[in-house]
Amino acid sequence: MKIGIDKISFYTPAFYVDMTELALVREIDPNKFTIGIGQDKMAFAPITQDAVTMGANAALDILTEEDRQSIELVILATESGIDQSKAGSIYIHRLLGIQPFARSIEIKEACYGATAGINLAKDYIAKHPNSKVLVIGSDIARYGLDTPGEATQGAGAVAMLLSANPRCIALEDDQVFLTEDIMDFWRPVYSEYAYVQGKYSTEQYLHFFETIWAEYQRKFNQPLESFTALCFHLPYTKMGKKALDLIIESAPVADQERLLENYRLSTLYSRNIGNIYTGSLYLSLISLLDHQSQLKAGNKIGFFSYGSGAVGEFFSGHLQEGFKEHIVTSQHQNLLANRTKLSIADYETRFKQELPKDGSTFEIDATSDPASIMLTGITEHMRQYIRKD
Ligand code: HMG
Repeated sequence: MKIGIDKISFYTPAFYVDMTELALVREIDPNKFTIGIGQDKMAFAPITQDAVTMGANAALDILTEEDRQSIELVILATESGIDQSKAGSIYIHRLLGIQPFARSIEIKEACYGATAGINLAKDYIAKHPNSKVLVIGSDIARYGLDTPGEATQGAGAVAMLLSANPRCIALEDDQVFLTEDIMDFWRPVYSEYAYVQGKYSTEQYLHFFETIWAEYQRKFNQPLESFTALCFHLPYTKMGKKALDLIIESAPVADQERLLENYRLSTLYSRNIGNIYTGSLYLSLISLLDHQSQLKAGNKIGFFSYGSGAVGEFFSGHLQEGFKEHIVTSQHQNLLANRTKLSIADYETRFKQELPKDGSTFEIDATSDPASIMLTGITEHMRQYIRKD
């Protein structure tokens, strides 16, 4: 039985920062951000968007009533959780109107979480072929103002509906994974911001990719040229390119050109959104699907997932007959086209805004955010969410 991604979509908040403007205010050559790091715009989450609302917004328009009745498991992968105990997926379950006899859980392992969620989903569907599983990766990447990581921030979510006989991409059982206990990036429970050893984290990403790729070749012997494209976790778009460069010369030149062009197309959304942590790898798949018109059923896509700390995984999938009818390219393009640019001063002011932590009531005007699902406040430590339609 084939199992995989039946539907996939993303959400990113309605605000962004222009990276050239940010560079100029920080007195940095803009080429460092746009070429050296490979980012043009950085999504900014207003106080009305968190891991719950972004995740729910990502799934909202792809689910039919039949999907809502068939989903038996809702998995939220996030490292921007809003609660140490209650799973964010429980709010998402309600906001999306999913039938009640479902499990709702939250998964954590840095940017790897959604890949763990997909594996859990595949196992569940293998045993319950009539069910569907909603896997969401949703995060806000924050390193702080005027820090080396600032240019690699971002915000957004990817929602994936997994099922048997998927209409978009069937996932193979060829996963190769690796765990090593390292401190490249982490966020202690008392900290709003991630701690990161920037250079070391990039070296570890490459070390994981090289090690896993070699093991994948040893186990499955699938040369690079057999892949139509490789999609990467993209903390910034230059990162995946560095990984691809490590192996690109193993493919014949004609295949190298295809792989490099498909890599470029897979990074277009990330280039304009930034790091969305758990959703990032899957945002690169969406970008490839939305921008590469030559893709055909049967094409093989490779996926490299990396979560600091660290866990990495490589696996593959095949595009399914008619997949183009099930991708929502114009929805994605409208979302990006309708964003508002923040001045750097406005971004800095908003960046410092916080929800109360003392139990006091805080209300936010529902018109301040065009999103369908948003946070309207907090009362006695309880977040208040609304769905506008
Ligand atoms: P940095 O140290 O300020 O930047 O921060 P740099 O000096 O390394 O420069 C970056 C690149 O720009 C270099 O290119 C420069 O040469 C180039 P490279 O040598 O790497 O090819 N450059 C220029 N290019 C053109 N014109 C210029 C110019 N100037 C310089 N004028 C760093 C970079 C990524 C370290 C920092 O932003 C950071 O710490 N980011 C956060 C950590 C991160 O994203 N790590 C990635 C791997 S870890 C990961 O992916 C997991 C993660 O997603 C978390 C999770 O799993 O949850 C982060």
